[in-house]
Amino acid sequence: MKAFIEKNKQRFLDELFEFLRIPSVSADPKFVPDMISAANWVQQKLQEAGMDTSEICPTEGHPIVFSQKIIDPSLPTILVYGHYDVQPADPYELWDSPPFEPEIRKNAIHPDGSIFARGACDDKGQIYMHVKAIEGMLANNLLTCNVKVMFEGEEEVGSENLETFIKANKEKLAADIILISDTSIIANDIPSVETGLRGLAYMEVEVTGPNRDLHSGVYGGAVANPANVLAKMIASLHDEDGKIMVEGFYDKVLELSATERADLEAAPFNESAYKKDLGIDDVKGETGYTTRERAAIRPTLDVNGIWSGYTGEGSKTVLPSVAYAKISMRLVPDQDWIEISDLFDKHFRKIAPSTVKVKVSRHHGGQPYVTPTDAVGYQAAFNAMQEGFGKTPVPTRGGGSIPIVALFEEVLGLKSILFGFGLDSDALHSPNENYGVFNFFKGIETIPLFYKHFAELSK
Ligand code: BES
Ligand code: MN
Ligand code: MN
Repeated sequence: MKAFIEKNKQRFLDELFEFLRIPSVSADPKFVPDMISAANWVQQKLQEAGMDTSEICPTEGHPIVFSQKIIDPSLPTILVYGHYDVQPADPYELWDSPPFEPEIRKNAIHPDGSIFARGACDDKGQIYMHVKAIEGMLANNLLTCNVKVMFEGEEEVGSENLETFIKANKEKLAADIILISDTSIIANDIPSVETGLRGLAYMEVEVTGPNRDLHSGVYGGAVANPANVLAKMIASLHDEDGKIMVEGFYDKVLELSATERADLEAAPFNESAYKKDLGIDDVKGETGYTTRERAAIRPTLDVNGIWSGYTGEGSKTVLPSVAYAKISMRLVPDQDWIEISDLFDKHFRKIAPSTVKVKVSRHHGGQPYVTPTDAVGYQAAFNAMQEGFGKTPVPTRGGGSIPIVALFEEVLGLKSILFGFGLDSDALHSPNENYGVFNFFKGIETIPLFYKHFAELSK
């Protein structure tokens, strides 16, 4: 595989660049034609890689790409899942190079160069590793398992149509394990395998005061300002210890045992490098937990966006009629996102003063997920990482969410293996998102090792 990668390095990069040039932003309807182009593009590449079939499956929203190669029905089947959609690239002015014009530059973390583009790491660069790994295995007679591939276009907006698709296509998706490269390793010299994802409950709130925007001199002081009220309500959602004040929020949270916590804490972590990377002087979070625990095994509540009144150039003296916020909660086992959404709704309406009306609505969500470390798939991932990096990998718990993963288990009865090769510092969802050239090729090299170990361990 190494020689094959070496020979095709430039072509693989050129192809990935082509993929990254398609602005497949799922959230914004203006990119619908690009979503279709991206789906067609990757469907075509799977076909060219040598798959038996490769098709576009339309949904109510963005299409799903499905492809398969069955070499021998008696062998185990790996279902590769990933997403070709990306987050919006705004704010464009903060990018050092345009988000859809990929470019390789070196930085401190990637001395061999990193590919700068929206979706480079999350998740186009990572799904493309699978396409190229499959091409390499087929070209070199190394494929030891059957493979099915499912790339969706709505991960970044909640995967609602994928849920419908998997419920309707259980037979088509039948497999032994799901393999996903959409998470991180600790560092390029510290391989790791993530053993969990947090769930998500995403809400939007609207606080309305007077029936119109008012002159803030004529009315200010006498009428409740919804922006002030919203700020105060949001502030009350955490106490001094960083605990979330929504009633019942912690009722189902599973506390980890001291041993589990110690195991997770054994993974290397440099808090001052972490602060430096983010340009902050101090970290902040729930009392009694370390930075990594706060960002992985503990639930959170954060404002993602807040707006009201005049936000244009210069100043305008106005007392706004309405204030809005988008608030998300990251969840851990055994919290249920529907239940938490309801608790939030109830709490938020309860704390509203009589001077305003509030409306709470629910966006998307997903359940938390934990991969059992005694599963064959986890062992195969561990062995593959070990062989690929020449170092024993460290188990970690990730803080992000992939909403469909819990449903894969519920609907298809399949465990998911989080086999990501990104770094948390790759600026996912931020300006200057990038993916190490090293990581891209290391992934292509390591993925076939998963197939090898999975086939061996499944015997
Ligand atoms: N790939 C990420 C999730 C991720 C990143 C997990 C890093 C672990 C480490 C995924 O694309 C993502 O961003 N998910 C969203 C979920 C959502 C929009 C429903 C998230 O976590 O915010
Ligand atoms: Mn992703
Ligand atoms: Mn993402």
